[in-house]
Amino acid sequence: MNQSPEQITIRQPDDWHVHLRDGAMLQSVASYTARQFARAIIMPNLAPPVTDTKMAQAYQDRILAAVPDHDGFTPLMTCYLTDGADAADIEWGFASGVFTAAKLYPANATTNSAHGVTDVANIMPVLEQMEKIGMPLLIHGEVTDADVDVFDREAVFIERTLSKLVTQLPGLKVVFEHITTADAVDFVNEAGPHVGATITPQHLHINRNAMFEGGIRPHAYCLPVAKREQHRLALRKAATSGSAKYFLGTDSAPHEIHAKESACGCAGIFNAPYALESYATVFDEEGALDKLEGFASEHGPNFYGLPLNEGTVTLQRSTTIVPENIEAGGATIVPFHAGQELQWRLVR
Ligand code: DOR
Ligand code: ZN
Repeated sequence: MNQSPEQITIRQPDDWHVHLRDGAMLQSVASYTARQFARAIIMPNLAPPVTDTKMAQAYQDRILAAVPDHDGFTPLMTCYLTDGADAADIEWGFASGVFTAAKLYPANATTNSAHGVTDVANIMPVLEQMEKIGMPLLIHGEVTDADVDVFDREAVFIERTLSKLVTQLPGLKVVFEHITTADAVDFVNEAGPHVGATITPQHLHINRNAMFEGGIRPHAYCLPVAKREQHRLALRKAATSGSAKYFLGTDSAPHEIHAKESACGCAGIFNAPYALESYATVFDEEGALDKLEGFASEHGPNFYGLPLNEGTVTLQRSTTIVPENIEAGGATIVPFHAGQELQWRLVR
């Protein structure tokens, strides 16, 4: 491919990690994902969390009802693992096609994770069964110990938990979600083919300075938090390398403006409205537009063992101005890249 084309057409992508929320927020944000992606892995951290097949089925119906104009959008549901996870229900949910994967949140690692797993040993029987039936485990990879620096939590999780887990269960499909460090890239590169990772647009665009640029910047705050520049560069190299282990997962996580601009602001960046433009900008800057299709549209389905999408999307080299705010059913949300220009535009 010409490395500076004016337009690219790629197989339709999927988002392998997104928060669509529920209720009025779901109604407001779902179509941003559905207009770009054929499928999306839906995070289960609602309040209360989606912990069984019945809840997931009902949530899937609510999502589909929120995107009536997007024929063919498929929400792929995940099960929120707790210490008391029910192996029989999870197996049933996976076998019946309701669950695509299960999500491991270490307890209290992030938004609505209070019911998460306190010790991986508590869910070992569930994980063994997932290995047997080929059900992927999606991991928020951070320790939560107060004595571990917030910028080191991912690296320490690899050392204390993840490296052991993949040795104990070598056949378990593991997606290391929203990786943020060179340590994670090294780990994934060296692991077997059952270990993959998603990478968000924000971790490809910003380093941790973005949170402190001229003052405190709550809209650049997400978890895992952005790290040093050397880590951002390692993530850009991994995403654009062509390696089948890396795939698109936006981690779009909308919070209303007042919940972000607060004395205790929520973690999460709402990147869904311009996600493809944001990724395309990175791949273009890296001279790797020819690698975008693999990352966005092929590596994910291949890892999950799902068919590739048939449709295509087209991106044009032209300016997209990202609005300062997005009005969403009476609420205001500040999108990623608010007020900035991106040099690509999704034209369908
Ligand atoms: O920044 C984040 N926001 N990270 C997560 O892990 C959860 C998410 C959310 O649900 O808001
Ligand atoms: Zn997430």
